[in-house]
Amino acid sequence: MIPVLKGKNVVLGVTGSIACYKAVDLASKLTQGGALVDVVMSEDATRFVAPLAFGSITHRAVTTSLFDPDSELSVEHVALADRADILVVAPATANTLAKMSLGLTDNALVATYAATAAPVLVAPAMDGHMWENAAIQENVSRLKHHGVRVVGPDSGYLASGKVGAGRMAAPEVILDYVRAVLGQGGPLAGSRIVVSAGGTREPLDPVRVITNRSSGKMGHALAEAARDMGASVTLVSASETLDAPPALEIVRVETAIEMRDAIEEACQGADALIMAAAVSDYRAAEASSHKLKKTGGPLSLTLVQNPDILASVEGPTVRVGFAAESRDLLENANSKLVSKGLDMIVANDITELGSGFGADTNKAAILTADGEIHQLPVMSKLELAHRVLEQMSNILIAKEE
Ligand code: PMT
Repeated sequence: MIPVLKGKNVVLGVTGSIACYKAVDLASKLTQGGALVDVVMSEDATRFVAPLAFGSITHRAVTTSLFDPDSELSVEHVALADRADILVVAPATANTLAKMSLGLTDNALVATYAATAAPVLVAPAMDGHMWENAAIQENVSRLKHHGVRVVGPDSGYLASGKVGAGRMAAPEVILDYVRAVLGQGGPLAGSRIVVSAGGTREPLDPVRVITNRSSGKMGHALAEAARDMGASVTLVSASETLDAPPALEIVRVETAIEMRDAIEEACQGADALIMAAAVSDYRAAEASSHKLKKTGGPLSLTLVQNPDILASVEGPTVRVGFAAESRDLLENANSKLVSKGLDMIVANDITELGSGFGADTNKAAILTADGEIHQLPVMSKLELAHRVLEQMSNILIAKEE
């Protein structure tokens, strides 16, 4: 379940492209996320994928015609247009983009587009030379001018066998943009939130680093959740493996010093800083510029302490820490809350199954400076992120009053 999608009416327009098969995956991801997905297919789209495929995934009727005698809705496209929270056209062919840009209404999808007041997102898919064609680019510009968001297309291998720009954006990327659009005007609208993620890497020499087991999943989930709640987000990430979440600003860093510098800059005028990163407490006093060689005996390294970013950063109204503990969870987390002068800390027990480093889930307790303790069950990192942001938002509102 993805909170921002829950119960939202998504109209998914599908037009005649080989990328139709990816739209099935998108319909599935939206449905699994909790959205109510009504698929509207152009006649050409039904040649690539049967309406039954979409109906089986969404458990809802699929519209293929402007005048469907079996429809329970009197004027289908107007009913869909009215109840849509968002209209997503993926894949969007050059032909459909042209019709939309000119206001033509000769099929159920373009008629729905013309009749809706909901935000519209299109994911173009076509051959590379078509995408570069001046008339098609003019149509896309006109759509953008009318407020339509355009996601992609990506570059890569095309159905024609050529390589170039024209591939439909990946379903997970389109999903992220849908989440961002639906989140606009949410409870954190107007707020600027800075989030840190991942484990810093402190070089010893050009080959070796001091690091830890943080994957960055918790921090990335927080950044996505804050974006889904309407905030403007800067994610300072040391994660080596995770992609940049779409529709937010990301600054990639490696060391604690780089993270501090990026956070200090991002925190100017920020409403909140949430530090989910596992920052290395120490770094080598001097990293060797050449690979260290075996000496045949023990090797001593001099380490110096890194700055405590969370304790020293100036700017954000609310500061939230995380505590990764293997024992005395609440006591240790509380002493960090107090010593770093935080508004809130999220304590996770890294010895629990499905909690802490690398997992997709987490089990945490939220402690506030007012002495409240909220013990939470195991849940997905995205759900925990929403719980953390709800608590943070209460503190922010109280502090800004
Ligand atoms: O990334 P994942 O694989 O999803 O795992 C998530 C997580 C376990 C890393 C995350 O949930 C978590 O607990 N992050 C904080 C880990 C940690 O290093 O805690 P700490 O107790 O060492 O530090 C306390 C707080 O001070 C943290 O918010 C930390 O970001 C911050 N800190 C620590 C040291 C330092 N030099 N500067 C800091 O700002």
